[in-house]
Amino acid sequence: MRELDIRHARRLDHYTTGVFAAVNEEKEKIERAGGKVCNLSIGTPDFAPPEHVRRAMMDSAARPENWKYSLTDSDELLSAVADYYQSRFGVALDREMITSVHGTQEGMGHLGLALCDGGDVVLLPDPGYPIFEVGAYFGQAEIHYYPLLRENGFLPRLDRIDEEVLRRTKYMVLSYPSNPVGAAAGKDTYLEIMDYARKYGFLIINDNAYSDIIFDGREGFSFLSLPGAKEMGAEFFSLSKSFNVTGARISFLIGNPAIIDAVKLLRSQFDFGMFYPVQAAAVAALRGPLDGVKAQRDEYQRRRDAFCGGLRRAGWEVPDSQGTMFVWAPIPAGHGDSQSFCRELLQKTGVLSTPGHAFGPSGEGYVRFALVRPAEELARIAAHIGEKLGLSGR
Ligand SMILES: Cc1ncc(COP(=O)(O)O)c(C=O)c1O
Repeated sequence: MRELDIRHARRLDHYTTGVFAAVNEEKEKIERAGGKVCNLSIGTPDFAPPEHVRRAMMDSAARPENWKYSLTDSDELLSAVADYYQSRFGVALDREMITSVHGTQEGMGHLGLALCDGGDVVLLPDPGYPIFEVGAYFGQAEIHYYPLLRENGFLPRLDRIDEEVLRRTKYMVLSYPSNPVGAAAGKDTYLEIMDYARKYGFLIINDNAYSDIIFDGREGFSFLSLPGAKEMGAEFFSLSKSFNVTGARISFLIGNPAIIDAVKLLRSQFDFGMFYPVQAAAVAALRGPLDGVKAQRDEYQRRRDAFCGGLRRAGWEVPDSQGTMFVWAPIPAGHGDSQSFCRELLQKTGVLSTPGHAFGPSGEGYVRFALVRPAEELARIAAHIGEKLGLSGR
């Protein structure tokens, strides 16, 4: 008898659970010993989804006919997305410019497979949201990271990228307000990058996860509202964070129909569409009142003020995030690298953060906190951190 070969495919060797597993192990050790951990490491909103969205899902799920394969996005869903884009972002969309995906995570993960051939370059932010890399890797693209550095306002510098790389680039991923660095970008930044994209012939893929979580009077916008953008790229538009529906997996890829077609062609090989009750929830969110979304943005800003302000008062110079539900904190001098600092923070304060290194090499020297607790609690946590780390507070 031959031995069974159950070893996973070599391509999966690329993925290890290293950094997150190490921090998580530490967390479990503390909990097993009866200690309490305050988890600010994961961006799962603590707010509830709107009542009308939950109701729409339940009503739809109560109908037996809504449990069959959906196969395609309903007309109702596509027109809800188109109407929302028109009223929220001033962008006119045709239906062939829209497809649902099971969350940006899944869509972005498959995008590289749908668009890339070996030898294509994909330009990704470093630090960046990890899923950006996955599709490009499985699509056998050559990945080129562009650093997001504090001295450049965490914005890309295309003038620093080799022309030969730009010429071979298939697509560049942009995402502002940015997870993990918390920076926002203006339209001028996008327009400048679009000039490069035109010159070198590459696509722009924008991940618009946080246009509703943006602070200090900045206006969230869609990349597709910029002149020429609908031809030269596409945008992921997730409802996860705006409507607190992370588990329902609702996102859309919107833009140039050729990109949408490629992604639909790939996905239709292994997917039979979005569950109708989830489509109903999406329609309810997009057609419903948006005052809750605005109130939530203001609450995130209050949390940002409480936490960043609190850390600064405690002696830790953490800049204010300009958007997203995250804080990107430079590690205070003398506290080691991001992984050892996260461990120190957890052991001394019980606060779990994510090491910046987990988002790419340029994330070293930082940790990321998620603003997933009320403002008053975050203010207390900030003071507690200052005290336990022995920072010299004001
Ligand atoms: C930048 C960014 N893109 C996408 C996502 C995930 O979106 P979805 O829930 O639609 O997969 C997140 C979630 O944290 C994110 O931070």
